Amino acid sequence: MINVGVLGATGAVGQRFVQLLADHPWFNLECLMASERSAGKEYRNAVNWRLDTPLPESVGGLKVKPVGVESSKGLDIVFSALPADLATTVERDIANAGVCVCSNASSHRMDKDIPLVIAEVNPEHLGLIEVQHDAGCDGCIVTNPNCSTIMLVSALNAIKHRNITDIKVATMQAISGAGFDGVAAMAIYDNVIPYIGSEEKKMETETLKIMGKFDGAEIVDAPLKVSASCNRVPVIDGHTLAVWTDAKGSVEEIINDFKNYKVPFGGLPTQPEKSVLYLDQEDRPQPRLDRNRGNGMTVSVGRVREGGRFIAMGHNTIRGAAGASVLNAELIVSRKLI
Ligand SMILES: NC(=O)c1ccc[n+]([C@@H]2O[C@H](COP(=O)([O-])OP(=O)(O)OC[C@H]3O[C@@H](n4cnc5c(N)ncnc54)[C@H](OP(=O)(O)O)[C@@H]3O)[C@@H](O)[C@H]2O)c1
Repeated sequence: MINVGVLGATGAVGQRFVQLLADHPWFNLECLMASERSAGKEYRNAVNWRLDTPLPESVGGLKVKPVGVESSKGLDIVFSALPADLATTVERDIANAGVCVCSNASSHRMDKDIPLVIAEVNPEHLGLIEVQHDAGCDGCIVTNPNCSTIMLVSALNAIKHRNITDIKVATMQAISGAGFDGVAAMAIYDNVIPYIGSEEKKMETETLKIMGKFDGAEIVDAPLKVSASCNRVPVIDGHTLAVWTDAKGSVEEIINDFKNYKVPFGGLPTQPEKSVLYLDQEDRPQPRLDRNRGNGMTVSVGRVREGGRFIAMGHNTIRGAAGASVLNAELIVSRKLI
């Protein structure tokens, strides 16, 4: 078994990590880390468990440790769900101490030496792990994208051969994307907030890196223009995206691309049967009805229309965060990169 831990294990994404890792067939979850507020307590007493499945028995009695290198000793992989400001130095320190850090935080996503990976889209970018080793890092950092970017790029990957150069996207993002304490009920109930701090820039830059080419030393950005408009809506889980592209081809051809899309590898425990699923019904996808497809790992697509328009939707704390990171770790292990 591979020994793993979670940084920020009590938060919205941290709890998803715990849910996905507690009975994982390859990974032994043995270390949960959070702030000084939680450290020293049993996990069941430190966490305000808010997921729709019970807190896994196997981890309830684990003592929460403080975030850092000392607590990460003996671990092979650490999953990070830390706030970005904190992740910046902590993740580097833990990686330098020989651990593979699979991170959700935005801190290192755009660093030249760090891969920003969606397992099904750009697994070859994991070649940057070797670049990190060559630079003297004993472990590594691998990041996964922002929770809206991952829905956009997963869907685009099915139609990218259609000479796309220009992408416009409007998001309708769930409140769990802001963490447990991120949006006050009085601010979001009966409301739409047309601003999510730095989200639009993340979508506009991360997309180019993920869809870029690894030249053996660094990633060369894809020649795309992305323009994003991000909105918070009163949905608990599931980000919905309205996408406009200049994809060349008829509506039928694009629908067929989505229907026939296949991932070039299989057999990883967190991998869904379909990473992109086309839904025929004219009023789908919808977060409440479709976010749990593929155990929350499937991006549902629908409403393909003239002008390369479509809707994409996925579970933001699973496909958009913890699940994406666990799938990346499975890919890293299966390719013997650690
Ligand atoms: N929510 C999403 O859909 C989503 C999607 C993609 C990426 N992300 C990214 O994932 C990260 C976590 O997001 P979240 O929504 O899970 O946040 P959250 O609910 O606020 O959880 C934050 C976690 O970090 C810990 N923490 C906070 N301050 C700390 C400190 N000073 N020292 C040590 N630990 C500290 C907290 O521990 P305590 O409970 O002990 O305070 C908690 O476990 C962020 O970087 C976010 O941008 C989130």
